[in-house]
Amino acid sequence: DKIMIGKLNHVAIAVPSVKKAAKQYKNMLGAKVSDILELPNHGVKTIFIELNNTKIELIEPFGENSPIQSYLNKKPEGGMHHVCYEVKDINEACKKLQKSGAIILGTGKPSIGAHGKPVIFLHPKSFNGTLIELEEV
Ligand code: CO
Repeated sequence: DKIMIGKLNHVAIAVPSVKKAAKQYKNMLGAKVSDILELPNHGVKTIFIELNNTKIELIEPFGENSPIQSYLNKKPEGGMHHVCYEVKDINEACKKLQKSGAIILGTGKPSIGAHGKPVIFLHPKSFNGTLIELEEV
């Protein structure tokens, strides 16, 4: 089969406060951090840590019914939330994965993600306990 998976786009870490977490990355690790981005439609506030080879996305719940809140209820100090891999063709990836039995969250179809690009999320149950985001680039 052809290779479908590309680069690691980002690792997302759920945190109670993106401001606090970004400060820590900046002051303790000397990392380059972005401004806060509020995404009410996705129920998150995010800050990106820009590394040479990838990004770390810090995500904080924003508004009611944030998908991040239930995660933080279980792990109040925060933790790794998902990894995001790049794919060239999200629709093709979607079809192939469904055929192989992966569980795609939500409608099962690509939707526009937090970075304005089409994404799908694979259920951790069908992928080694890891929430996986695939983003078309
Ligand atoms: Co993400």
